[in-house]
Amino acid sequence: MRAFGASALLVGCGEDDVGTAGTGAGGAPTTNGSTTASAGGGGGLGQGGAGGGDPFAQCKQRGPTEGCFVTEDNILGPYYKAGAPFDPNLADDLEGELLLIEGTVYGCDCETPLAGAIVDVWQADSDGAYDNTGFLLRGKVQTDADGRYSFLTIKPGWYLNGSQYRPAHIHYKVSHQDGVALTTQLYFEGDPYIPIDPFVKESLVIPLSAGNTGRGRGLVGTFDVVLG
Ligand SMILES: [Fe+2]
Repeated sequence: MRAFGASALLVGCGEDDVGTAGTGAGGAPTTNGSTTASAGGGGGLGQGGAGGGDPFAQCKQRGPTEGCFVTEDNILGPYYKAGAPFDPNLADDLEGELLLIEGTVYGCDCETPLAGAIVDVWQADSDGAYDNTGFLLRGKVQTDADGRYSFLTIKPGWYLNGSQYRPAHIHYKVSHQDGVALTTQLYFEGDPYIPIDPFVKESLVIPLSAGNTGRGRGLVGTFDVVLG
């Protein structure tokens, strides 16, 4: 079974959508691998994260008036399209570095896996372009009985947002009947544009490691989500 690693937990806050890119960004550099060691091993939230020895420490830190300690949110961006198909294979035959993302969706207690949660993801291709006419690199997956989800894609490319590139990222909308819907983005350690990007939140940055994607060697990473 696949290993589960670092995850991200923080109280969300709103930001305006000021994204202006995604048009293909001709001449955009190719995204680097940004491969780092994976936390790997073990199960559950917070492995290798800020929780220290207790994977659920961050959840337990919340006070009685602080509400749920949920995965941090992030801007929707201008390229969301409703109606993406249920399909765990976003990679299709597209050129790029294979990337397997997997994780578990939890309820507010950070312990209860949410079966049947909908994970709706979309991203740019390896050249930094979004498919705004069809559903390439757009898809939904549903968590299984253990709250787990996974999808195969390719590493997204950089694209210009104004005068600077955004780091590689995957957009998420996660929803479940027992939780508050979340809109966020997933980033990857080592991306050179993370330090200058105004939208990145540290809790949303995960390590990637080289591994078996199920369709050959590529990158693998884990992104657990807690809904409020
Ligand atoms: Fe984006």
